[in-house]
Amino acid sequence: MASSTLSPATHSQLCSSKSGIFAPANAALVKPARTHVAGGRDRVMKVSCQATSIPADRVPDMGKRELMNLLLLGAISLPTAGMLVPYASFFVPTGRTGGAGGGTVAKDAVGNDVIAEEWLKTHGPGDRTLTQGLKGDPTYLVVEKDRTLATYGINAVCTHLGCVVPFNAAENKFICPCHGSQYNDQGRVVRGPAPLSLALAHADVDDGKVVFVPWVETDFRTGDAPWWS
Ligand code: FES
Repeated sequence: MASSTLSPATHSQLCSSKSGIFAPANAALVKPARTHVAGGRDRVMKVSCQATSIPADRVPDMGKRELMNLLLLGAISLPTAGMLVPYASFFVPTGRTGGAGGGTVAKDAVGNDVIAEEWLKTHGPGDRTLTQGLKGDPTYLVVEKDRTLATYGINAVCTHLGCVVPFNAAENKFICPCHGSQYNDQGRVVRGPAPLSLALAHADVDDGKVVFVPWVETDFRTGDAPWWS
């Protein structure tokens, strides 16, 4: 073992020349250590050289190194890809979410899926009860006079300034508590200041569950193209 007071670079070269071969495997055996010279301005490195030559037949050849690199790359890539794919897919819009047919399964007041048959046992003709609909919007599920579910749901967000509009069964209207806008029992605006009717969504039944699907067709109440998106 040799000791000296040289810069690391100079010493590496010296050690390399001593060992005869400069290779990364050899360089790992060079142990630099910082020291201060008392009263001096410059820092010097005291380096102990423990380098020994590695027999050439023990250094992996290039083919083995590449194979090991590929194995390492594969071992890292597979689990990383497994984590990244679901993470990335979260940001890819699907247009529809949640339901078996691509819509959103309606949720009741406590967050359970709305089962059509069960719902109709407890909600009579003319009932309009809030559920959670598309994009989490409060949406009325409508029970028709013949005790069937209407094929549309009514978004409860007022088109004036966004208050949630309650249904007034006595008046058979939706009446906004904020500024008095009124909508008929299908959500068509009948009194301002709300400028537009309440938005619609399809209310389908899929595998027994109520599923809201975006309404992109003509608004059957007005004959106009839907203003919502
Ligand atoms: S927010 Fe409904 S009338 Fe103003």
